[in-house]
Amino acid sequence: MTQVNAALLGCGGMGASLIRAAASLELCTVKCVADPDVERASKLAEELGCEYSADSNEVVARDDVNAIFVAAPNFLHAPLTIQAARAGKHVFCEKPFALTVEDAGQMVTTAEQAGVKLMVGQVLRYIAPYVYMWDLVRSGELGEPFCIQTTRIGGSWRGTSFEGTWRENLKKCGGPLFEYSAHEIDYMRTVLDSNVSRVYGSLDHYMAEGIDYEDTAYVLMEFENGTKGCLLAGHSAVLGTYDGKILLTEGTIYYDNKTSVVTYLKKGESEPTQVSYEESGAGYEPGVQREVREFIEAVANDTPVTIPGTEGVQNTMVAVAAHLSAERGQPVELPLYG
Ligand SMILES: NC(=O)c1ccc[n+]([C@@H]2O[C@H](COP(=O)([O-])OP(=O)(O)OC[C@H]3O[C@@H](n4cnc5c(N)ncnc54)[C@H](O)[C@@H]3O)[C@@H](O)[C@H]2O)c1
Repeated sequence: MTQVNAALLGCGGMGASLIRAAASLELCTVKCVADPDVERASKLAEELGCEYSADSNEVVARDDVNAIFVAAPNFLHAPLTIQAARAGKHVFCEKPFALTVEDAGQMVTTAEQAGVKLMVGQVLRYIAPYVYMWDLVRSGELGEPFCIQTTRIGGSWRGTSFEGTWRENLKKCGGPLFEYSAHEIDYMRTVLDSNVSRVYGSLDHYMAEGIDYEDTAYVLMEFENGTKGCLLAGHSAVLGTYDGKILLTEGTIYYDNKTSVVTYLKKGESEPTQVSYEESGAGYEPGVQREVREFIEAVANDTPVTIPGTEGVQNTMVAVAAHLSAERGQPVELPLYG
């Protein structure tokens, strides 16, 4: 077991959560945080008692750092991850892993060639009550899952702290299927235990101001094992919703992200079981803490990471395929090759 010396690239809200979790681990020492916004970097460094820099190149080149967290804006995930891996650093990259299939493939190949670990932050897998539902599915109590339907739709970024930032630009953000529904795509793949084989995407812009990408995205996914997923994501709902259903051969699970209540009904029973967040979340380690701990332990013990970069490649392929399908007006077969 070796001590892990970590650094952070990108000191926004997410980067701060990741590096605070890393700093709380005995196995890990945080050496440095970097952000071109020096005020952000220095404030976080002061809190953590580490160094800071405005220049991510300088941090990636440091000999006393062996693990890097990438939490910069989406379009920088690929270049920063590739740069860090080439410099021999293990990398934890936030979702969305990449904005193109070419970038995603290159990130994985570079890490393999450099002999470093690469993990992607698909934290929804680790968030209660999503872990609870995943455990319920795996218990077999409700039979086999064959379909997941998810809606994650809200209003525009206007009037929020995201107004006027990289999140409003397609090339920098990727749009809803990358920026937040990378989580939904990943969770569907996880629960259905399969990669996606065909994608139908229908994307349009109806009403959200300030963004140069679709505000309404419908994605139908067919999985290699014959199961299906259906996602509605975007910025076009005055009354936002974030919920979904998992259909299984012996029951149905419904979850509402806003209330964090999981409801399920077993075939033959008349009363659904409702599980509150207190019940469904009990006993689970907080998601960000768990993903960071697992990454740091993998580096320290030289064991495989728990959510490898190849998972990020699969999620990227689905989002890219939805865009291609919408452009072409026909389904797109996976895998896509960069
Ligand atoms: N897992 C989750 O649930 C979750 C939640 C929120 C955000 N995220 C992801 O985390 C990332 C950051 O999100 P955020 O909300 O913290 O964004 P943010 O815009 O608040 O922070 C990003 C920071 O990166 C900095 N930056 C820009 N270029 C840089 C560079 N070359 N090197 C280092 N830093 C650089 C910016 O100055 C900014 O401070 C995004 O990819 C986002 O999708 C994930």
